[in-house]
Amino acid sequence: MYKIYFDKSGVFLNISNTRLDLDFVRSQFPAFKDPICKDWSFFENAGGSYVPQQVIKKLNEFMVSTKVQPYADYPMSKIAGQKMDQAIELFAKIINANNKEIIIGGSTSINLYVLSNALKYLIKPGDEIIVTEQDHEANISPWRRLTEVGAKIIEWKINPETAELEIDKLEHLINDRTKIVAVTHCSNIVGTVNDLKKISEIAHKKNAFVIGDGVSYAPHGFPDVKELGVDFYTFSLYKTYGPHLALLYGKEDILKSLPNQNHEFLENIYPYTINPGGPNHEELVSLIGIYDYMMDLYEHHFNIQNLSTREKINQINNLISIHEEEVANPILDYIFKREDLNLIGKNKIINKNRAPTISFTNRNKTSKEVSDILVNNKIATRNDNFYAWRCLESLGIDTNDGVVRISMVHYNNIEETNKIIDALDQIKF
Ligand SMILES: Cc1ncc(COP(=O)(O)O)c(C=O)c1O
Repeated sequence: MYKIYFDKSGVFLNISNTRLDLDFVRSQFPAFKDPICKDWSFFENAGGSYVPQQVIKKLNEFMVSTKVQPYADYPMSKIAGQKMDQAIELFAKIINANNKEIIIGGSTSINLYVLSNALKYLIKPGDEIIVTEQDHEANISPWRRLTEVGAKIIEWKINPETAELEIDKLEHLINDRTKIVAVTHCSNIVGTVNDLKKISEIAHKKNAFVIGDGVSYAPHGFPDVKELGVDFYTFSLYKTYGPHLALLYGKEDILKSLPNQNHEFLENIYPYTINPGGPNHEELVSLIGIYDYMMDLYEHHFNIQNLSTREKINQINNLISIHEEEVANPILDYIFKREDLNLIGKNKIINKNRAPTISFTNRNKTSKEVSDILVNNKIATRNDNFYAWRCLESLGIDTNDGVVRISMVHYNNIEETNKIIDALDQIKF
């Protein structure tokens, strides 16, 4: 048990001796003991994470006892409905939103497509939409499609040397015609964390909406959406230790004003009006397990109980970032220093300026060849463009072969860090 402390004004102090207990963390994920997974070092987390026992338990309980149509008056149905509502309430608390601001869909790609359909009624010919060159295609193509209603697409390009998006470029692109800025919180290739708070401030001066893609950010610590100031934010729950669903947050005032895309009689019952149908019930309920896991992490490491969910999440986030820096920085440093490897993005995580999502190419071998060698060393990774093909194209990387991506989360340990460095070291490229 660790302690947390407050300074005189009651602000949490980040105590350096409070460390993430990796044995505890890994004991929560059955995959680490599973015969198929246990001998592998899992470095494909940006593709989808392992799932803790708390999620599996909730999924199982729902399937056994309450897998009926929810919201009727018999007990199984009543409980099913209550649990579905509870999952939404808990996730609202986790990201500091309210219940009416949470929409659960099948994936981030679906969420953004559905959102773009809803927002298209606000777009008039000549209105401008800013999309980036760094984003996953999920947060680009739905907006590019709005040329159908006369939108003009403006591309916020990356700096080809650093692969980063620069804020001063945005300041030049944005103007009174800009209606939407669609930008990733963290790139799934470059790893850089973009300053969504600053971007929102800039966009709001022009009354433009900001659509933040949090898919590569949220697995490293659930964000506070109010703090970010974004109008919409989405992330994939299957990458934040849950089932294959995705969450879309939207500011209530905006959701209220969007057209009904659901059944006619649901008019005005936002947020149900946004999606043309409901989510997968059992998977929705299993999201309670993500909350339970986070709270178990909190209880295991801290001893102050009278904090809000969001305050507890902040504490967990701090622990996670310190640990992720420790396990990712040696790999970043190793790849950066190897002359034959070309690291994309920053070579060090400092204060959460970067996620431990590490992409690189090799001068002498294809990414597929490098990835195959790693896989032969029981390192679960892959090569691909990971649907951020515009980013790769701009960096001059073959979009078919793509990059090798090593992506870590808080359950990766230092032994795995050493294993990957050893594997790369033994390979003579
Ligand atoms: C940064 C980013 N955005 C969006 C997506 C799309 O998410 P989904 O698979 O839930 O559609 C991904 C998927 O890998 C991603 O990495």
